Amino acid sequence: MKIKKALITGISGQDGAYLADLLLRKGYEVTGVERRTASNDNFRLKYFNIHEKIKLQKIDLCEHSQVTKLIQEENFDEIYNLAAQSFVGSSWENPITTSNINSIAVTNILDSIHRFSSKTKFYQASTSEMFGKIMEDRQSELTPFYPRSPYGVSKLYSHWMCQNYRESYGLFCCSGILFNHESPLRGNEFVTKKIVSTLCKRRKDPDIILKLGNIDAKRDWGFAGDYVEAMYLMMQQSDPEDFVIGTGITQSVRDFCNLTLDYLDIKYSWSGSGLDEKCLDANGNIIIEIAEEFFRPAEVDILLANPEKAKLKLGWKPKTDIEDLVSKMVDYELSLP
Ligand code: NAP
Ligand code: GDD
Repeated sequence: MKIKKALITGISGQDGAYLADLLLRKGYEVTGVERRTASNDNFRLKYFNIHEKIKLQKIDLCEHSQVTKLIQEENFDEIYNLAAQSFVGSSWENPITTSNINSIAVTNILDSIHRFSSKTKFYQASTSEMFGKIMEDRQSELTPFYPRSPYGVSKLYSHWMCQNYRESYGLFCCSGILFNHESPLRGNEFVTKKIVSTLCKRRKDPDIILKLGNIDAKRDWGFAGDYVEAMYLMMQQSDPEDFVIGTGITQSVRDFCNLTLDYLDIKYSWSGSGLDEKCLDANGNIIIEIAEEFFRPAEVDILLANPEKAKLKLGWKPKTDIEDLVSKMVDYELSLP
């Protein structure tokens, strides 16, 4: 049987590593795009011990000629576009770089597929951030979008481009509208990883205080390992379609703190409100406090997925609940030297 060839952009990120591991286990030949930096240490690929099994290509996704050359020469069966400036908070400070990689680079890939490799299937990493100021309590593929950040807007552009290349040229383009998904390999700037790593460090140094922004924000958090399976399933369908992927349960940032504190067996209580709210340990020492610097110019207050279509058509459902997710993240953090 012919070995399938997949390209993953954003191979050095959280999802890149989980997806590469999955596709290698399924017998794919995996090529990964990484950007040129002084030190690509690829620690996430090393976590799965797959760094030597992947063909790494250093190209700039914003350079049309480089993208075209790779796609024309390699004729991939599947391209998973995961590369992005993915931190919502930074997108207000860096709206142009965010748009270049999250929007323009996607057009480069779609245009190259259209011109030179029209049989290649394409997956776009869309996001629940496109729902932003939500228009329905549970967000499905039919919920109208209302992005609330340069990140959300840049991703919505690509979501629509993907749909337009599908409808205009009959290309196999699908978008996964994924809700927040986390793992031990999550980037340090995201709130779950920040909570877990800071509270784990505090076990050794009780003077450490966890400083957070809006702890009332609610997210539908799942496990990255489950979500890359959904990406793969979308690409195995006979027709390209978009799918919402989430758990169907929403929790606040405060809830996530409580689950982590419980798992670490730390006794705590909350007091105060607003900017004065604090979480204290049994001796009255501050564990968590609110810091204005971590609030955003506009907030997405709540996200909650309606993943019924994925359940029905892909047979996908999450295997990991939030307690399991917290335990995976904490156990990993505590295992670090
Ligand atoms: P991540 O860990 O931040 O990984 C992002 C990847 O994009 C990294 O490999 C990064 O490379 C690469 N990248 C960033 N800027 C780039 C640039 N200018 N040129 C080339 N590559 C660049 O993100 P993730 O959590 O794996 O998410 C994967 C994708 O899914 C992203 O598109 C994200 O927006 C989307 N998404 C994520 C979630 C989630 O909850 N995780 C939910 C919905 C959608 P470096 O290592 O060099 O920085
Ligand atoms: N990062 C961070 N740091 N967030 C904080 C903090 C803090 O100190 N305090 C409160 N929050 C709140 C944010 O305001 C937000 O409401 C929520 O925690 C989650 O923030 P992040 O973990 O940074 O994730 P996100 O929801 O903004 O974006 C992630 O999920 C999207 C899918 O919905 C990213 O992975 C995006 O790339 C992804 O598209």
